[in-house]
Amino acid sequence: MGHILAIDEGTTSTRAAVFAEDGRMVASASREFAQHFPRPGWVEHDAEEIWLTTREMIGTVLGRTQLTHSDISCVGITDQRETTVVWEAATGRPVHPAIVWQDTRGEEIVERLAPHAADIAARTGLTVATYFSAIKLSWILDTLPPRQREEASAGELLFGTVDSWLIWNLTGGPAGGRHVTDVTNASRTMLMDLKTLDWSEEMLALTGVPRAMLPEILPSIGEFGTVAGHQLLAGVPITGVLGDQQSAAFGQCAFSPGDTKNTYGTGCFLLTNTGTAPVASAGGLITTVAYQEAGRPAAYALEGSIAVAGSLVHWLRDGLGILTSSEEVETLASSVEDSGDVYFVPAFSGLFAPRWRPDARGTIVGLTRFATKGHIARAALESTAFQTAEVIETLRQDSGFAISTLRADGGMAVNDGLMQFQADISDCEVTRGSIESTATGAAFAAGMGAGVFAGTDDLARLWEETGRWEPRMTAAERAARLTRWDEAVQRSLGWVQ
Ligand code: G3P
Repeated sequence: MGHILAIDEGTTSTRAAVFAEDGRMVASASREFAQHFPRPGWVEHDAEEIWLTTREMIGTVLGRTQLTHSDISCVGITDQRETTVVWEAATGRPVHPAIVWQDTRGEEIVERLAPHAADIAARTGLTVATYFSAIKLSWILDTLPPRQREEASAGELLFGTVDSWLIWNLTGGPAGGRHVTDVTNASRTMLMDLKTLDWSEEMLALTGVPRAMLPEILPSIGEFGTVAGHQLLAGVPITGVLGDQQSAAFGQCAFSPGDTKNTYGTGCFLLTNTGTAPVASAGGLITTVAYQEAGRPAAYALEGSIAVAGSLVHWLRDGLGILTSSEEVETLASSVEDSGDVYFVPAFSGLFAPRWRPDARGTIVGLTRFATKGHIARAALESTAFQTAEVIETLRQDSGFAISTLRADGGMAVNDGLMQFQADISDCEVTRGSIESTATGAAFAAGMGAGVFAGTDDLARLWEETGRWEPRMTAAERAARLTRWDEAVQRSLGWVQ
């Protein structure tokens, strides 16, 4: 039996996983890489470290499984979206640290584009926010010396989201690497027209981004080139590429309109498949591409993006020091009966969906001498569920879908208490699929691109439920808790003048 290798390059770690051709993950290896916070609101990665970590994880997982390139039929790639890399075509050297999706340094550019917000939303499906790549790329271009600006216009500097950076390196780098991206990642740049699925001339004019530095946009499931930049995978085709949230939706088999998943990762991202036409949101959700198979129309999704989820647990561990490991959060949160009326609004990068308030900052309210680190841990976990509940409510209003079931995945979804609270506070059944749905999605997409799987019907049979929670909270209690959450959010707004 052949195997599929999936690379899942997330915000805090890189994973390489081997899947059997029946869709089961047989081995994986992952490693965290450095997060750089040079100033308040700034978040950077070293793109070369990402490439190095990716190479190492491929080597580790192949070593563990004793497989070689002749055992691997195809490679799938999934990545943290929006994070912006600019590098020299001739050398592969990045000209600037990668600016991460959470980074808020582009606020002035956002203000400059604000008068065009309605037009931008109509073209790209996105809210004008520092979150998206175009803002980060404009910021880099503005700070480059004139010589490098000219190089960008001449296509000597290349832009890419992390998928693009990895594909270019994997397919040979300076020695003929392919400069491509997939349609889901491109839909997060704020430069792609959501209907034509090509770069938008209007958006390029508005942001001053030269077309010459942009990758070619390809369907998510199809040919991306063959590996030439990693000896262990030499000659293996890359046949599936998806942004990580779209990949989780694919791994969760959200193939029909109304199918909804929520991934509790570094951030928390809820996607609902809306079918083959983009649906606009009036309430603060964004419209994005879910996936596209070569030769087929794209499937679209509505998305509620929540910036801070698992990263809050990391902050409790690394910033506040009240946990020795991330796993400990569950024990600490369940050491108390409830949050003791403590609310934690984790607006570290402002608030994303559905409020989009860059002026908000992290806030803990309701502290008394009664409160312990257990209450803070519990309030931190509950904040993810509250934000998800707001997104679900907006989605119900915007899409007309009832959203009665949520498919959960991602690291924090192992937490049964959080899953129960999610069902309670959003009045929605929660079913858990594979925690590793993101890597699974990349393997599914690559397998489909290589003909291992016949199509989405074939994949849908592979989905497995690993837990289920029904709402038990009374309507009155739910309403009271949501009101209290809203009051906490109001206190977090307007901190940045
Ligand atoms: O849009 C950002 C998102 O792709 C990051 O995902 O899995 O690193 O939380 P994750």
